[in-house]
Amino acid sequence: MRRKLLLGNWKMNKTVTEAKAFATEAKTLGREARANKIDMGICVPYVDLAPVKKILKNSLIVGAENCNELDHGAYTGEISIPMLKDLNISWCIIGHSERRMYYAETSEHCNKKILALLENKMTPVYCCGESLETYEEGKTKEFVEEQIRVGFKNVSAEDASKVVIAYEPIWSIGTGKNASKEIAEDVCSFIRGIIKELYGSKVSNKIRILYGGSVKPNNIKEYLTQDDIDGALVGGASLDVNSYKELLTNLL
Ligand code: 13P
Repeated sequence: MRRKLLLGNWKMNKTVTEAKAFATEAKTLGREARANKIDMGICVPYVDLAPVKKILKNSLIVGAENCNELDHGAYTGEISIPMLKDLNISWCIIGHSERRMYYAETSEHCNKKILALLENKMTPVYCCGESLETYEEGKTKEFVEEQIRVGFKNVSAEDASKVVIAYEPIWSIGTGKNASKEIAEDVCSFIRGIIKELYGSKVSNKIRILYGGSVKPNNIKEYLTQDDIDGALVGGASLDVNSYKELLTNLL
């Protein structure tokens, strides 16, 4: 049985002051989630990592939203994996569509980051998903397949199931226009099929695949009751602590 995973993604939101207030209020949620066999956490901007981790400790997962694949060097503005590890951060989103769109990140580049995170025993949350144009052309699956195959290049069978995949159709992100549970399940099951082809059924049965895109407290359950959807990556609805709490309570 795969454990359900509920992850927030704050994107470029919350000052340290705001982040600390959220963490203080959300602190007890982890215990409740674990009691119900659900893993729960938030991925936050770099500056919020240390203060949020200090408050939450191991109550909720605290993850980064991006990292560099190199350990150190002349890369102004970048954050390395050793810097994250030093803060006891072991989760990191990779290849979010906003990074692909606004910062020209490619699946090849994501692959380097995934390999570096795995080498450091960290958990990459690898995002994939198609644009509205690709969706309307009926090319979702071939597009996502390429993202998965490239992202997993040279990832060993032993490591593959440690990656979390998040399927986030770009047209559903922040638009309130979510993919139906049938569409989300169809693509997530397709992704699991690719993993099976690459690594066999032991890995494909183990790997966790999330859906993301306008997930709210009132629709989270319909996604998470699908066979191949193991959790959610939530943007907007993870920003308000009450709505974040409701994501969990509405699942129980
Ligand atoms: P929204 O939940 O705001 O649509 O964002 C989804 C997302 O991009 C999570 O990574």
